[in-house]
Amino acid sequence: MAEIYPGLETIDKTHDESRQGEALSIAEPETKKSNGKFLYVESYGCAMNFSDSEIIASIMVTEGFSVTKNHNEADVLLINTCSIREKAEDKIRLRISELKSVKKKKPDALIGIMGCMAERLKTQLLDEEKMVDLVVGPDAYRELPALVKSAEDGTKAINVLLSREETYADINPVRLNSNGIVAFISIMRGCDNMCSFCVVPFTRGRERSRDAESIVREAEDLFNNGYREVTLLGQNVDSYKWKSPTLTLPQGEGEATSEEVVTFANLLEMVANVNPLLRVRFSTSHPKDITDDVLYTIKKHHNICKYIHLPVQSGSSRVLELMNRTYNREWYKSKVDSIRKILPDCTISADIISGFCTETEEEHQETLSMMEYVRYSMAYMFTYSERPGTLAARTLKDDVPELIKSRRLQEIVDLQHVHQAEDNKSEPGKVYEVLVEGTSKRSKEQLFGRNSQNKVLIFPKGNLKPGDYANVKVISATSATLIGEVI
Ligand code: 5AD
Ligand code: SF4
Repeated sequence: MAEIYPGLETIDKTHDESRQGEALSIAEPETKKSNGKFLYVESYGCAMNFSDSEIIASIMVTEGFSVTKNHNEADVLLINTCSIREKAEDKIRLRISELKSVKKKKPDALIGIMGCMAERLKTQLLDEEKMVDLVVGPDAYRELPALVKSAEDGTKAINVLLSREETYADINPVRLNSNGIVAFISIMRGCDNMCSFCVVPFTRGRERSRDAESIVREAEDLFNNGYREVTLLGQNVDSYKWKSPTLTLPQGEGEATSEEVVTFANLLEMVANVNPLLRVRFSTSHPKDITDDVLYTIKKHHNICKYIHLPVQSGSSRVLELMNRTYNREWYKSKVDSIRKILPDCTISADIISGFCTETEEEHQETLSMMEYVRYSMAYMFTYSERPGTLAARTLKDDVPELIKSRRLQEIVDLQHVHQAEDNKSEPGKVYEVLVEGTSKRSKEQLFGRNSQNKVLIFPKGNLKPGDYANVKVISATSATLIGEVI
């Protein structure tokens, strides 16, 4: 699933690499019976991994650990990892080697690998490479305290069992590195799509949806604690489906398919109804599954953001078929047309892969022409990286030379730059409602926030503070940022 932060991404500076290695600081430690030990967590990859780290921290804090930002004082160091491209894994290996230096001063410190790499490589990093002391897959985080104990006792500590049920619905995440305004809520886990290039179905298992009532409760808690924006996370949010024995669904265009089944449109509406001042975002949508119901629900609620991340991957129908995306160029364009018709002020972003197996020059041109058709407000752009075990690795030849992949990617990146720069030229003079998120990196006198369309605006502080809404008039623009004044 894709990163949800705005800005133009460049060659292979992807959703995983762009937020790599963020050490986590705890917003409000709620250590119960302290065990005097410190936990350090570093996260790589997609928003889902960052959200999982908040669950991991919650489990460990309940056990008595305190979270530290300083890896040198940690007793347990956990790295939450991403396998989506080879480069991401290479960087994580390097980082684990660096972190092992902690053991020189603290020989009892434990290093654990969590997430997709743990799931993919299983015993390899523990037994053969001896890089880590514990290995925990994405569905086994409840076992962490027991596994830490095993590792302390010198016993093999690994659990990479995938589950068909685990959604961590009852765990109240400890918000990490939080600005106190925006937060992620995980609404489902796993993926059943089997895109041929993607390792996620193997590392995160079968798709399962989380109890809708627990999602709404989490949104309510966040709102009551001052948060003003939630992003509902899933690999494919449009296939969210949860059967409720008790729930009465809100009436509206987002109708349930049957009385007790909560669809994604229903869920969006339920979260939007928590409070009109709570913004709702979501990621990621799949072009084959996004429905008009969802679009009408977005239209109906001012607080559901007018921004859809709709990965296209390729503009060529033949390549899309090889990718097993289950839609073609025309289908994707018709989805874009529906969005434009129902939500005229909605921005669309995408993930794009260059140089997938057997991609020809003409097919690459089709990706560029799709970009011309849609004019994405932002895109995450990658060269294809073959992942062991995937359908593509087993059945197709990774036959586009690296130099050609990179050249095509550069053309995609350049076109995206042109589109963003051109589109932003029409921004000055427009007024947006902006949720203030914090102080701008450029100046303490400036604040930054995003509009509903997920564009970043920078504007003078005045009397505003994070969490406030402000009407901001754009006065100038770069390709990634809008500069404005409060009106
Ligand atoms: N190579 C390159 N990019 C990939 N993605 C997923 N798997 C691969 C791969 N093997 C990209 C897709 C997906 C995004 C999260 O990462 O574009 O939408
Ligand atoms: Fe991977 Fe496709 Fe699932 Fe996204 S929808 S996680 S690209 S298999």
